[in-house]
Amino acid sequence: MSSLEWSEKLENGLARMDDTHREFVELYTAVANAAPEHFLTAYDAFVAHTEAHFAQENRWMEAVDFPGCHRAEHERVLAVLHDIRKRVANGDMFFARRLIQELPAWFENHTNGMDAALAFHLNSVGYDVEAEGFVPVEEGGEKSAGCACATLTADDKAACA
Ligand SMILES: [Fe+2]
Ligand SMILES: [Fe+2]
Repeated sequence: MSSLEWSEKLENGLARMDDTHREFVELYTAVANAAPEHFLTAYDAFVAHTEAHFAQENRWMEAVDFPGCHRAEHERVLAVLHDIRKRVANGDMFFARRLIQELPAWFENHTNGMDAALAFHLNSVGYDVEAEGFVPVEEGGEKSAGCACATLTADDKAACA
């Protein structure tokens, strides 16, 4: 049986993102271990989580004009999850079983790749994912403790100094 376990290798240093990813691992595990009569209930909870999880990251990306194909990757995965939901409801478990096998590798790649890049960028530009806004610049031009000046561009560093 496939398994997905949380480990610090999956942490991206952004508490809200890491908490969401821990929940993904828990809900995936519930689907992978569900008895046939409970499969759809567990699967629906996993899909509901994944929709909210991806929508949360999409909002952050939009707020900071994050470039790249990350959002499209989320949409591709959701399309697969919705398609498999219909197949399972019709009694066809073939693709659901393949999904359970393949999701751990996909999740580890996505979390350590696209999500890690997003977390780094959000921290770099001072975006506060809890407040869903930028860390305010204090009077007198000094940034508050959330300012990651060291990772900004030269122009931003000048503004930050
Ligand atoms: Fe994620
Ligand atoms: Fe993502």
